[in-house]
Amino acid sequence: MKNRILELKKQKNALILAHYYTIPEVQDIADFVGDSLALAKAAASTNADIIVFAGVHFMAETAKILNPTKKVIIPDLNAGCSLADSCPADQLATFLQQYPDHLVLSYINCSAEVKALSDIIVTSGNALKIVQSLPEDQKIVFTPDRNLGAYINSTLQREMVLWDGACHVHDQLTADEVFKLKVKYPNAKVLAHPECKATILALADFVGSTAAMLQFTETDLTMEYIVATETGILYEMHKRNPDKIFHIVNSSETCSCNDCEYMKLNSLSKIYSALKNEEPELILDQELMEKAKLPILKMLEMS
Ligand code: 13P
Ligand code: SF4
Repeated sequence: MKNRILELKKQKNALILAHYYTIPEVQDIADFVGDSLALAKAAASTNADIIVFAGVHFMAETAKILNPTKKVIIPDLNAGCSLADSCPADQLATFLQQYPDHLVLSYINCSAEVKALSDIIVTSGNALKIVQSLPEDQKIVFTPDRNLGAYINSTLQREMVLWDGACHVHDQLTADEVFKLKVKYPNAKVLAHPECKATILALADFVGSTAAMLQFTETDLTMEYIVATETGILYEMHKRNPDKIFHIVNSSETCSCNDCEYMKLNSLSKIYSALKNEEPELILDQELMEKAKLPILKMLEMS
């Protein structure tokens, strides 16, 4: 399957992008694996004719918006995102009527329609830097993630108005579970994704995007970590740090509840058939893409 994908990819001048939460086989076949920021940058700079996006729908939308003339295909159209779904664009438009003098900052985990309502897009990799660069008295509405928004507010002493959205994978993790692991592994440092609740972030030694957490494990001298994010990241963590030990924070001992079921929909056989048939193709309205592109370009300029 791997060889067939590689052959097709060459024939069709295609680029395979994958997120760190996808299964190991998918990460291995990808030309580039990254966090949302790095994937958006890779999509912006490619000269491939076809982009196969092994991630979730909003990530593929971002790639399409940045490359409207290229074919963007998604191995499984059902690979959505609960966080993006927690902010329907029509409800956000009504909400924003209360804040006409506010800048609208949206986390990249949102639909193209929400991006079109936003002034600047941020990722977990650049959110602090971008908000910090805005004047202190700038009024801001932050969508859709209340946890990332609250983290920015407390870190930078801001008072951004927060949309009440969350990721079902990160939001269900509990500080209790992190605390139990801390007691069990007292030498371990805690790494957390900013989509986790504030109670978890308060226990973390390092908070950052998937790429930032990976980078931290490579430069930090600690040998053991408690990791509060989606399970897929462990593959790259082990690869980069074969001698280190990682304990994933799970909300239950009986299930892998922090597997993102959307990310896990990407498989080699789906990538193969998507590449072969050049579908499912992501099609977006031209006017929507033009509106959604502006806040993404603003982010790329500022990060
Ligand atoms: P990163 O941008 O940190 O990779 O996060 C993406 C995501 O979907 C986290 O749930
Ligand atoms: Fe969306 Fe959460 Fe999955 Fe990330 S982990 S893609 S935020 S549902």
